[in-house]
Amino acid sequence: MKTKIQTMCCFSFIKKKIIILFLVNITFLSCDVANNQTPYPAVFVNKIINLNNIQYTTLRNDGGAVYETGGLKGLIIYRLNANNYLVFDRYCPFDRNASCSKIEIDDSLLYMIDRCCDSQFTFEGVPIAGPAPQNLLRYSAVLTGSLLTINN
Ligand code: FES
Repeated sequence: MKTKIQTMCCFSFIKKKIIILFLVNITFLSCDVANNQTPYPAVFVNKIINLNNIQYTTLRNDGGAVYETGGLKGLIIYRLNANNYLVFDRYCPFDRNASCSKIEIDDSLLYMIDRCCDSQFTFEGVPIAGPAPQNLLRYSAVLTGSLLTINN
């Protein structure tokens, strides 16, 4: 039968092991982030658009998407449903310096694409094909009546 001191010693050893495992895990996660997730350049976005305006008629149906000015390279606004809109920057997450790189809405309206390297993204901004290593830069979008407030 273990004494109280032996039990405390055992707990202390387990505690140390857990702390070491935790630190090793953080180190690996940090490396992963550093390798695959490059921070986007800082940008200030704060605009309000009126969805009743004629240029947004495409957004009157679920799955509709339009281009808008703002952000780093322009915005893509996507209507998920009547109450939820998703807004992404057209800034490329792969070859950011390539002059041809700019995210577009595919004609099929099923995904977004950067024709520079053929990376494709869902309308949640997640890469599904091509070399793009990370999600598109997404902004907050809040609907109040017919006004959509986009900011970060
Ligand atoms: S060059 Fe931009 S995602 Fe491919």
